[in-house]
Amino acid sequence: MIGRLNHVAIAVPDLAAASALYAGTLGAEVAAPQDEPAHGVTVVFITLPNTKIELLTPLGENSPIAGFLAKNPSGGIHHICYEVDDIHAARDHLQATGARVLGDIKIGAHGKPVLFLHPKDFTGTLIELEQA
Ligand code: CO
Repeated sequence: MIGRLNHVAIAVPDLAAASALYAGTLGAEVAAPQDEPAHGVTVVFITLPNTKIELLTPLGENSPIAGFLAKNPSGGIHHICYEVDDIHAARDHLQATGARVLGDIKIGAHGKPVLFLHPKDFTGTLIELEQA
């Protein structure tokens, strides 16, 4: 069911420092920061030959990553995103297997439908599925 790895999202306390680390030390192709008010984050997209990295930092009050950064003050991998061909079929299949889908299918940061799966059902990893 799952296809390509679309991105790995890393929550960071200091977006400028993390961007400099990826652009300078790691020599990656790093884009300018982008505010995503609907998602409560500011994102920096890093393009790798085979996937993307997204550096996330909280934007505004009630950011969905604020709690994660409180527990992981130096940052850490927040979620990984796999592509699926049909997100509604994927949701139905997952729910039929008993996996917990968090909330409803929403439009994600790339303008495509996404959903999130409970980390406790997936070996401690928050999984995002994105319509390919
Ligand atoms: Co994501």
